[in-house]
This record gives sequence, structure tokens and C-alpha cells, in this order.
Amino acid sequence: MLWQRALANTVLLAVALSLSISHVVHEKRSVSLPHKRRRVDSDAIIPVRIGLRQSNLHTGYDRLMEVSHPGSVNYGKHLSKEEVHSLFAPADETIHIVKNWLLGSNLIQKQDIIHYENKGWLAVDMPAKHAETLFGTKYYEHETKRGELRIGCDQYHLPRHISSHVDFVKPGVKLSAPLKKREIEKRGSVRSSPGAIPRLSNIKPPHYPGWKLPSGAGALPLDLQNCGVNITPTCIKALYDIPTACHSQSENAMGLFETFDAFSQEDVSLFLGKFASNTPSHTAPKVISVDGGTAPVEPGNDRNGGESNIDLDLAISLIYPQSVIVYQVDDIPIASGETDTSGFINTFLDSIDGSYCDYSAFGITGDNPGIDGSYPDPFQGGFNGSRQCGTYELTRVLSISYGETEIDLPKPYVERQCNEIMKLGLQGHTILSSSGDFGVAGFPGEDGDERGCLSAQRSNATIYNPDYPSGCPYITSVGATRLYPNQTVNDPESAMQVDIAAFNFATVDGPTSPPLHFFATGGGFSNYFPTPLYQAQDVGQYLKNDLPFQSLPFYEINANATNIGQNGGVYNRLGRGYPDVSANGAFFLTFLNLTERNFFGTSLAAPIFGSVVTLINEERSVIGKGSVGFINPALYKSKKFPRNVSKTALLTRIDPSVLNDITNGSNPNCGSQGFQASEGWDPVTGLGTPNYPKMLQYFLSLP
Ligand SMILES: *[C@@H]1O[C@H](CO)[C@@H](O)[C@H](O)[C@H]1NC(C)=O
Ligand SMILES: *[C@@H]1O[C@H](CO)[C@@H](O)[C@H](O)[C@H]1NC(C)=O
Ligand SMILES: *[C@@H]1O[C@H](CO)[C@@H](O)[C@H](O)[C@H]1NC(C)=O
Ligand SMILES: *[C@@H]1O[C@H](CO)[C@@H](O)[C@H](O)[C@H]1NC(C)=O
Ligand SMILES: *[C@@H]1O[C@H](CO)[C@@H](O)[C@H](O)[C@H]1NC(C)=O
Ligand SMILES: *[C@@H]1O[C@H](CO)[C@@H](O)[C@H](O)[C@H]1NC(C)=O
Ligand SMILES: *[C@@H]1O[C@H](CO)[C@@H](O)[C@H](O)[C@H]1NC(C)=O
Repeated sequence: MLWQRALANTVLLAVALSLSISHVVHEKRSVSLPHKRRRVDSDAIIPVRIGLRQSNLHTGYDRLMEVSHPGSVNYGKHLSKEEVHSLFAPADETIHIVKNWLLGSNLIQKQDIIHYENKGWLAVDMPAKHAETLFGTKYYEHETKRGELRIGCDQYHLPRHISSHVDFVKPGVKLSAPLKKREIEKRGSVRSSPGAIPRLSNIKPPHYPGWKLPSGAGALPLDLQNCGVNITPTCIKALYDIPTACHSQSENAMGLFETFDAFSQEDVSLFLGKFASNTPSHTAPKVISVDGGTAPVEPGNDRNGGESNIDLDLAISLIYPQSVIVYQVDDIPIASGETDTSGFINTFLDSIDGSYCDYSAFGITGDNPGIDGSYPDPFQGGFNGSRQCGTYELTRVLSISYGETEIDLPKPYVERQCNEIMKLGLQGHTILSSSGDFGVAGFPGEDGDERGCLSAQRSNATIYNPDYPSGCPYITSVGATRLYPNQTVNDPESAMQVDIAAFNFATVDGPTSPPLHFFATGGGFSNYFPTPLYQAQDVGQYLKNDLPFQSLPFYEINANATNIGQNGGVYNRLGRGYPDVSANGAFFLTFLNLTERNFFGTSLAAPIFGSVVTLINEERSVIGKGSVGFINPALYKSKKFPRNVSKTALLTRIDPSVLNDITNGSNPNCGSQGFQASEGWDPVTGLGTPNYPKMLQYFLSLP
């Protein structure tokens, strides 16, 4: 009680705290709150939320492997949402200890404490003065860029025996501007595009002046003769041996994440009518509006950029009669980037898992003001309702063709989100993401560099700039491949590389904006996530065997990712390598604004691979088996599985080459050669493209 009484007298605060050996600083800002205004009125009621420390967080990887690794006796035994919540919920002891401390203060009545449904939170509304006493702090109002007032403090305290049970107290030390600590310079202009950048470029056909029928193409059916310059669903099916789909099971509807960009049904119908004779041309997806997202739009609408169109073109033509669900995420002010929020998919994850809304991990609780959009959105045209939490079910397969550079998001933000993706894997979902389109760089202009590369202080931007969400080890990252014009579907593909500017020149289509000189499939190594065990052997082989890339200077990232580019290195040798797999991402012929166009990008690859996984899940459904869920461990040649392995599992541990290994091409950028495709896994095309019959046989053999 000495501590509390002393605290009431702010003059004595410093002395009192230094005397109080029972209290510790729980969180402290390294930089004072921006726009700090006046003290919060001492009688003002503030909503205090205490995030309780989750148990078992560190066991997430092993738990996921247990249900995802083909060598595990529990393969395929996914958990329910409730089981996942309780697995990571704080221990009863934690709830008990923190509650008792609150009640023991005599400032709070038992009935005032609300215990949140997902067990992660205690909520109490109390006068600011009581909160200040409890947490040994002073609350200030501060104003955000958007003119909203928020409450926060520069540091707060907890009793030592409570501190270990609490992740975070809100209001408290909030995350403000991202990334104050990095040693990487961000020069020049800040990009104005939305946080999640679609990955796609399109050009007008005719796109290949002087093209001649490749030798050997004459012997192919007419609709397969020019796949080297015009990719259609027929070409894709031929490349990967994908049969015409026949199933329609409600549990296997395929999900597509979209934001800002919105499809036009007219464009999709034109595509289906011309290139997908197996589907009625009016086939439309179900649209789920998350926090005010809207689709479809008219063909001439500027939100119809082609990104959503091509996702639907591919998914519908490959899996029809299976249905497709579009999650159209965020209202226009937020999705367009107008509100300057650089965050990525948190509001979407909130909408499909209510427990994520206020979930606390890695020192971050809930969405981040200033990074994630918040609802209701006061911007003009903003979504008027409150943020959607756990409103929707997530499909078994979700394809995301958006991304941004990892470094644009704070490490704890990304760790917390990736942890949620791990939980979705535990529940049997497969989350796929395209790997980016600028080789080893980010989007041109990103991070203040013309090429989208990173620079250590005082040198040119030559450091590779890894992508997110591809860096999350619980995502299946999909790179892109291509055929060359003189090749047919019977030739092996190469890594996708294409000079878009040259095409635009040839077609008099003018410059593409922003300048996209060179498209190359994204790949590399995360700075935030270490190499997961399931790919460690394959990544190790690549690093060891694939000279001359050994000569590419590297660095070894530290725990806080503050030494990017150390000693002249350009990539983190200790990072999670991506992509995991790949699929065709060039010369896709479709319609945009009612006009025929060719599209390029890893955006094409993710929905193709997602469709393949959907088809496999369907066949498993037919024989009474569950979804494949997180497929990476099954796709890698993971020989080092730590758990006990049953005999049957050993027998079915078969030839892992259920993918077509891509060994030609590279992903240069940032002034160097990038990485080169090679035998086995490589950070260009991953393990390779689908060999559907082999994949199907493999996954049908698993429990
Ligand atoms: C769509 O096409 C129409 C007709 O050609 C044109 O007027 C309009 O500007 C186009 N819209 C976009 C967004 O390009
Ligand atoms: C939100 O929508 C409701 C119903 O459309 C309307 O009455 C209300 O004024 C709106 N609120 C704001 C802040 O725009
Ligand atoms: C940095 O780039 C500029 C422009 O490309 C070039 O002129 C300069 O020599 C480069 N500096 C170093 C240290 O490589
Ligand atoms: C195809 O063209 C490439 C050059 O782009 C050339 O290296 C290769 O030999 C050609 N292949 C065939 C089969 O003509
Ligand atoms: C990482 O951050 C922690 C906590 O802020 C700090 O103690 C540690 O020194 C940092 N490590 C490096 C290598 O910067
Ligand atoms: C594997 O471990 C489980 C418990 O984790 C045990 O029940 C089972 O008997 C073990 N199987 C083998 C083959 O050792
Ligand atoms: C291999 O890739 C290179 C580009 O890196 C390309 O020029 C060449 O045509 C490809 N070769 C084959 C056989 O596909």
C-alpha cells in the first residue's frame, strides 16, 4: 500500500517507484507519444483492457506440424476453432491471479470485471485516476493524424508477480508510427498506393510481334498451339494435367481475398464465354463484404484493375461447378490508401476469427491505430458500422494476390498476424499468397527506392527486399513460371521474367504506371522469420550447393532485425525462404474493361495453385477425408520430423516430387543477379509447379 499512497502524490512518484521493489515497468515507449496533449481528466471513465498472456504460443509450430506433417500419426486431425482458442487461452491460474490483484486494490468491484469470451482479456471500465494508480502511470490525450483523440501513456507498471501473466494493458503504450528502430534508410517519397499492393500488370494483345508457331506445336490440338504467348485455362490444365472439375461440395468453396480492386461480372463473363466452355458464362462468385467492402463494379470503374477479374477467371474455370467466394475487404477510404494505413489483412482476419480482434501476442493487442483501418470509419464514404469480428466463416482454401514489403510492417505486427495464420492452419485452412513480381525487390518506389530495394546507411539500395505475407512460414507462397514463345505445354517452364516495358513499346500501349520495367517472380529470404524446420533441409541444400550464388554476400539477421545489410550482405541467410511452389504467371489472356488483355504476375499463380488444392480437397471429401490444410510440410522433403512416425506413414512418405521442378531462370533486381532456379527447392520457383495426378495420388494416400 505504500506504493499506492505515494503514487497519489506525483511529486513523490519517482522516489516511490525506486523504492517499490515489488513493481516493475511493464512497458515503456522509446519515443514519447506523438501529439501529446493534456492529462486525461481524473474522473473520466476509461475502458481498460488487460491482455492476459496466452499459454502454449511457443508450441504453435509443433502443434501445426503434428496435424500437417505426413509423418505424424495425427496428420489431418485438425482442431476446431474452439479447440484452438482453448489451446492458446491463458491458463486459469493467470486469470485468477490478475483478477485477485484487481479486486485486492479495492478500486474495483467483482461485477465490474468482464472476462472476454475467448478468455484472452479482462475488461474493466474505471476512472482514469484509478487506472493511473493501478498502473503507476499518467494518461494523456493525444491526437492522431485523422484528428481523433486517443489515450495513452509513455510507460506503466505492474506488480512483479502480475507482470509475467500480462501481455499488454490498453490504453497504454500503443504502437505508433511503424519501424522507428531500423537501420535502413527510407529515402525519397512515401508511396501513395494502398498498403496491400495488387501484383499484376497487363498489356494489350497482340503482344508478340514476329511470333511463329513453335516446332512441335502443329501436332497439338488447336487450342494448345499458342500457349507460349497466350495462356488460357486449357493451357493451364494441359501444363499441370488438371482434369475438368466435377464436384460441388459446400465445404470446398474456394476463397479469394480482394481489397480496393473489384471485379466486373461483365469482364468475367466475357472470359468464361470465350475461354472456359465448361462453365456457364454468367457464373458469379458469392461476395462477402468485410467492413464495407463492395463488389462487383462496372467494367469501366477505376477499381476494376484486373486483379479480382483474373482471380475469378482462373478459379471459376478450374474448379467450376465448385463455387467461389470473394472476401471484399475494407471500405473505400481505407482500401484505397486515402487514410494512410499501411496495414495488411488484420481487419480481414478479425472478420473470420472474432478472437483475433483483441488478441494479444508479441506485445501487440488488436488492430493498430494508424496501421490498420478502424471502424466505424469517419472518413467520407467510410463504413459506418462497427468492425466485424468473427462475422464470417473462412473457406478451406484462401488465395491472396496482394502483398507488401515485410519491412513496411513492424516485426511484432507481422509475428502476431503470422501466428494467426498458424492457427488457421491448425483448423485445416490452406492460405496461399503470391510471392511478388519484382524479383528480389519490392514494388518499384517502395521504401523510398526507385527499384524497391533496401539500402544500408550511406550506400546505394542493393539489399534485397523480402515480401510479406510470403515471409510468414505458415503461408504457402506461390511464385510464377512462364513458357517462352517458341515453347509448348510439353516443354519445361522457366521462372517468370518478362520485360513489360518492351511489350508496351511494341504495342504502343504507352508507359505502364508506376514504371514497371521488368517483371520477375518474387523470391528470397525473410528478415523476420527464421527458416522453419520443414524446409530447413531444402533451403540448406540450396545454400550449400548452388554456386555461384554462394558468392552473393549475405548477412545473418539478429533478433530485432536491426542489422539488415550488415557487412555488405544482400540477403538473410537465416531466413524463411520463399516461394514454396509456383504456377504459370505470364501471357494470361483475359478481359479488362471489356477489352482483351494479356496479364503477367504471381497474381495468376496463387489462384491456380489454390484451385489445385481445392480440387484435391474435393477428392478427399469424396472418400470421407478432411482438408489438406497447411500443405507445406507435406510438399517439402522433410526427412527430419521430430515426432514418432507410424509404419504406414513411413510407407506413404513416398517420392515427394509431386511437383514439376523448375530449374531455369532467375529473379534479378537491386543491381545484382538475384537467385537462380536450380534442382530442388530454390528461392525463385520453390519446389516447382503442380503435377496434379501425382499430387492427388499423394494427398489421397494420406489419412
Ligand atoms: C473503359 O473503357 C471505356 C470505353 O473505352 C473508357 O471510356 C473508360 O475510360 C475505360 N475505363 C477505364 C477505367 O480505363
Ligand atoms: C450511419 O448510418 C445510419 C443509417 O444509414 C445513419 O442514420 C447515420 O447517420 C450514419 N452515421 C454516420 C456517422 O454517418
Ligand atoms: C549509386 O548509384 C548512383 C546512380 O545509379 C551511381 O552514380 C553511384 O556511383 C552509386 N554509388 C555507389 C557507391 O555505388
Ligand atoms: C527458343 O528461343 C530461345 C531464345 O529465346 C533459344 O535459346 C532456344 O534455343 C529456342 N528454342 C527452340 C526450341 O527453338
Ligand atoms: C533487441 O531488443 C531488445 C529489447 O528491446 C534489446 O534488449 C536487445 O539489445 C536488442 N538486440 C539487438 C541486437 O539490437
Ligand atoms: C506415438 O506417440 C503417441 C503419444 O504421443 C503414443 O500414443 C503412440 O503410441 C506413439 N506411437 C509409436 C509408434 O511409438
Ligand atoms: C531459360 O531462361 C532464360 C531466361 O533466364 C531464357 O532466356 C531461356 O530461353 C530459357 N531457356 C529455356 C530452355 O526455357
